[in-house]
Parts: sequence; structure tokens; C-alpha cells
Amino acid sequence: MPETEGNLEVKDYSYEEMTARPFYKGILEKILPDNLVKDLEGKVFVDLATGAGGAIAAVMSRFSQLENIFGIDIDPKAIKSCKEKFLEEGVHFLIGNIEKTPFASNSANIITCANAIHLTKIRNTLEEAYRVLKDGGVLAISSAYIGDVMYPTEESAKLWGGIAIEAFKLAVSEGYGDDLKRERKNRKNKQITQMGLEGYLEALKDTGFQKIEYFITVAKMSIDDMLAILNYDEFAQGALPGIPISAAKRFLSEAAIKIYSSLDCGYIERAWVTITAQK
Ligand SMILES: C[S@@+](CC[C@H](N)C(=O)[O-])C[C@H]1O[C@@H](n2cnc3c(N)ncnc32)[C@H](O)[C@@H]1O
Repeated sequence: MPETEGNLEVKDYSYEEMTARPFYKGILEKILPDNLVKDLEGKVFVDLATGAGGAIAAVMSRFSQLENIFGIDIDPKAIKSCKEKFLEEGVHFLIGNIEKTPFASNSANIITCANAIHLTKIRNTLEEAYRVLKDGGVLAISSAYIGDVMYPTEESAKLWGGIAIEAFKLAVSEGYGDDLKRERKNRKNKQITQMGLEGYLEALKDTGFQKIEYFITVAKMSIDDMLAILNYDEFAQGALPGIPISAAKRFLSEAAIKIYSSLDCGYIERAWVTITAQK
């Protein structure tokens, strides 16, 4: 039986597994370059779209002096998971939309947003981060959905596409073809905000950010890494909308296993972009 929190049905937060994957931990650990983070005593750190708190854990492990830490996410399951996980550390968590947060203007020294900004209206989120940051404050974002660079090679694009096609075929073969067609039409443009790297850099500049820098990490994702992301509820729903989520996860997992079994190298690449900027 699912647990309940108020009137909400709260099941497990399914991004949890992804945040435990070593490759992903490595990406989160690099989100804040050392040279941008100085004299941490009394400083305020906010993690936007905190999920299972992976970025908070990674930042805390490197900068143990940080004390005033906040995580915000729109998903009550994520916040519940974080509250349990960080019970001892005194981190504050709240449910909310990162496009319009309850944080005061000019109140934070550091803001991170890992692998989530593409799920929001990008410019709104950047403007909100700018509002909340103090002058000189640092923003660090990461995303695996930066249009023109997310597939490091043609081969990787083909393999990611191959998983989607195989999963789609499996869904159709089990009678979900009409549901998929209907729901895909309804959801058009509602899932991920597509923007290229130049678009992000320009949006940051337009918002007022300075000292904008970026680096790209190419992850070699193993089948276990892939299964962790495919079994994230929102991913499965986005890839195969309109069908029961457990079925979507099953089709995606079977498709991935099939594609991986044809690979000699055992991994599929994906590029994560990290961008830092200062107010
Ligand atoms: C892929 S997960 C990333 C979680 C975490 N940042 C990490 O890297 O481990 C995306 C998260 O963004 C959250 N999210 C999506 N849209 C949001 C919004 N408008 N406001 C707040 N959180 C949002 C989701 O609930 C989810 O927890």
C-alpha cells in the first residue's frame, strides 16, 4: 500500500536509483567548480528541483562548512525522500515550483539545478535564480537535454533512438498503439523544453548573468545506468505517454536489454552539460 502524506498518495521517488549510479554521482560532484566557491561560512545554498537530493549530497561532501542548505522540488515524493535522507543534517526541504519560489530576493550565495531545467520554462527558471541570488552569487546548472550536444556521436543518437523505437514496437504489439498516438498528440511540446547550448548561454546573458562558462561530461552509460533512467517515472511517462507506467517501464527495459545485447562495448554515450554563471 502506498503511504499517504496529507491527502496525497506518496509512493517511492523513482529518481532515487539514478542518483546512486556512480557515473551520475560523478557528474553531480563536479557541478560546482572549486574556484567558484569560497569562504563558505554563513553562506546560503539552494538546490532547485532537488529530486532525491543527489546534488545536495555531492556538494555537502565537498564543502562540509555549508550550513544553510535548502532543497525545493515540485514532487512531494521527492521532498519526502529527502526529508528522510537528510534528517540528521538539518537541510531544509520544501515543495514548490522552481519557476516561482518562495525564497527572498538577493538571499542565496549558491544555486544549483541538476538535470531539471529542461523540464521547466528555461528563461523563467533562470530569471528566478537571478532574483534569488545575491550579487556575486553563483548559479550552476546541468542538463542531459541540451539539444545539439546531448548525443556525442551519431552512433549514440541512433542507439538512444533504437531503444525508443523498440519500446514503441513492444507497446504496439501489446495493444497500446491507439493510446500512445492519442496521448502523444495531447502532450506535444509539453514535456521537455528543447534548447541548444548557444540558446542556454544567450538566455543566461539576457537574464543578466556574467562569467558564463560550461563544460561537457560524456557518460558511458552501462545497461544498469540505462535501466535506472528508464525506470524513472517521468522518463517512462515521457517516452511512452498514455499507457500504464509499469508497462512503459517494462517495454523500455526490454528494449534496452535488446539493444545493449547487440553492443560490443557495453555502453551508450550521453553528454551532460554543466554551465556556471555569476550574478
Ligand atoms: C531528473 S530529476 C533530477 C533531480 C535532481 N536534481 C538530481 O539531479 O538528482 C528532475 C526533478 O525536477 C523536478 N521538477 C520538474 N519540474 C519542476 C518544477 N517546475 N519545479 C520544481 N521541480 C521540478 C522533478 O520533480 C524531479 O524531481
